[in-house]
Amino acid sequence: FTKIPKVSSDFQSRMPPYTKLLTKLEKVRELTNNTPLTLAEKILYSHLTNPEESLSASTPIADIRGNQYLKLSPDRVAMQDASAQMAMLQFMTTGLNKTFVPTSIHCDHLIVGRDGEGKDLPSSLTNNKEVFDFLESCAAKYGITFWGPGSGIIHQIVLENYSAPGLMMLGTDSHTPNAGGLGAIAIGVGGADAVDAMTATPWELKAPKILGVKLTGKLNGWSAPKDVITKIAGDLTVRGGTNHIIEYFGDGVKTLSCTGMATITNMGAEVGATTSTFPYQEAHKRYLYATGRKEIADAADMALNEYGFLKADEGAQYDKVMEINLSTLEPHVNGPYTPDLSTPITKYGEKSKTENWPQKISVGLIGSCTNSSYQDMSRVIDLVNQAAAVGLKPKIPFFVTPGSEQIRATLERDGIVKTFEDNGAIVLANACGPCIGQWDRTDIPKGSKEVTSIFTSFNRNFRARNDGNRNTMNFLTSPEIVTAMIYSGNAQFNPLTDSIKLDNGKDFKFQPPKGDELPQRGFEHGRNKFYPDTDPSPNPKVQVKVSPISDRLQLLEPFKPWNGKELKTNVLLKVEGKCTTDHISAAGVWLKYKGHLENISYNTLIGAQNKETGEVNKAYDLDGTAYDIPGLMIKWKKEHRPWTVLAEHNYGEGSAREHAALSPRFLGGEIIITKSFARIHETNLKKQGMLPLTFANEADYDKIHSGDVLETVGLVDMVAKDGNNGGFLDVKVTKPNGESFIIKTKHTMSKDQINFFKAGSAINYIGEQKRN
Ligand code: F3S
Repeated sequence: FTKIPKVSSDFQSRMPPYTKLLTKLEKVRELTNNTPLTLAEKILYSHLTNPEESLSASTPIADIRGNQYLKLSPDRVAMQDASAQMAMLQFMTTGLNKTFVPTSIHCDHLIVGRDGEGKDLPSSLTNNKEVFDFLESCAAKYGITFWGPGSGIIHQIVLENYSAPGLMMLGTDSHTPNAGGLGAIAIGVGGADAVDAMTATPWELKAPKILGVKLTGKLNGWSAPKDVITKIAGDLTVRGGTNHIIEYFGDGVKTLSCTGMATITNMGAEVGATTSTFPYQEAHKRYLYATGRKEIADAADMALNEYGFLKADEGAQYDKVMEINLSTLEPHVNGPYTPDLSTPITKYGEKSKTENWPQKISVGLIGSCTNSSYQDMSRVIDLVNQAAAVGLKPKIPFFVTPGSEQIRATLERDGIVKTFEDNGAIVLANACGPCIGQWDRTDIPKGSKEVTSIFTSFNRNFRARNDGNRNTMNFLTSPEIVTAMIYSGNAQFNPLTDSIKLDNGKDFKFQPPKGDELPQRGFEHGRNKFYPDTDPSPNPKVQVKVSPISDRLQLLEPFKPWNGKELKTNVLLKVEGKCTTDHISAAGVWLKYKGHLENISYNTLIGAQNKETGEVNKAYDLDGTAYDIPGLMIKWKKEHRPWTVLAEHNYGEGSAREHAALSPRFLGGEIIITKSFARIHETNLKKQGMLPLTFANEADYDKIHSGDVLETVGLVDMVAKDGNNGGFLDVKVTKPNGESFIIKTKHTMSKDQINFFKAGSAINYIGEQKRN
């Protein structure tokens, strides 16, 4: 592969190792009898630590998907400040003195949005000082690139700096697949998985199935890349992508911008997909050039044109194929409370009446990691300019979050920030803000019971996510539609067809938005203080800053190893219906305690609904005394009474939040049995030494009640057989009256995951391995 150009030292850490990947791919071809591969498989399998271990000529590719565990060596790790705290605390317990792959930390989740960067950033810096200091000291000690508060949102910065065609990266955030918009395989994981990659321990993933999405036609008028994914979410539902990589192909791909593709891959997380990716395109090349990475584009060109990498093979087979015609795609509005309740804009007004959704829209928010590209903002500002030209002002509060300092500075240079502000918008700091519940909302009283409707260009809309209020209905849509709705404030308004009455009595109708894919004058660098040292060296002399009296940071005590016996637990809670990681480990005010396991655990399952009583955050002790859920967990932990939680479908959907696994484990949980799990959460539970099981017969969920005793039957044998790569496990249920019966459950434990279980956690196991 001699035609792959050598890169200058500036780009070394940011260049996918194409020569190494192509060499591995050659081996993979041998092992798979030259079976045509999808793009996702080419990238994934070229990152196998040892192809011979995972692939064999006798196993057809189609049988590997969904069955075989792959051991992978990712190229890079990125972590956001909320999840990086626990990831670094776990990394520290391994005793290593540097990370083994390029790693970056991004301070974006802890910055509150209210009045704009000028006021919000200083107060967030003060309020989170010890956390930022801790992360900065970890970065300096272990040689990690540190993007400080105000520099931007992790996924935007990764897209601008690190994502590249053919790269494989892990990120401790569920929207890490955003980087797939630039042709990477980027997977959202928990901190313990990030530690695998940082310690160069092979990272394990069950080979996903591949869902092909064929795009034809070309977006036009009001339709935007966001509509591709909001439509797909409606079609697939929040579970439809589980254990699949979504791979886009077809002529329509050529018509999209790189940042538009990133919007689409970002929200693959909303259908539960492992990740999503696009084949290398001219649009990628334009974006790489615009972001100063010509060297990477040149190498990617060679990898594609000379060696056939970065695209699917002719004749590659997908497990399923969907088709979307971009030319006829309508804008969609998704919500409330779930991202898969998808309504085309033409039906939204009518549906809002029949569903009794608020007719007044109360706030509009644009930006976030999903939609803060230059293209998004330039299309939005076209609408703002149209309105301003006829004297029309926003009817409701309007917030904008730029994705990075580079985007903000470019928008400022091009007059877009000023136009926003002149027209009543508040431009917030370059951070997550309202998207992750860091929104100091002032237009309604705190704790208001009023049901309000907000329109956002974000990606997630679970209850209470944005303002902490369970009565707020968040409707997800494109930034263009959010902006048009801001000028009407009325759910019945369809900007494609309707006019707005002006003060002078005339009717005003928006023209479809127009914008630039990339800034015509190039990107502006912005303020230097927001840029880190690239590729810092580790410095073992640096002291990591953790105060022993801190209520926000706490060094970790390793979990106890398995005692070698069958598990015996009481059912603490039967959860009803949807239970996302926001229900299991709420964000908002709790983000403050991400680095303090004991303190954050007071939020465990506080959003869950008790199936037996219909109450939220209520569980009952064996004598019938009511507790809040974490309260009962703490009591049982003190009484040495291990517990099980039962739940329904897609338990743990939403984010990669590993506290949703750490806290239950910390509070004495041993088993979670569900009708089905969201993939990342199930893996996180295994990494923390818990036993996730699913009902072989879903009806058994109805036969078990809180207080019942559950005992595994055959766990010792299953462990002795290294888990058999998944299978069945019996569980004996004993009722308070002594009656008992056996139910069948399924597990998906691999050999490594059994080792995590035995050691008490994955980190314990990695530590043992590295020390020996
Ligand atoms: Fe930040 Fe995640 Fe939103 S990265 S912008 S909170 S989806």
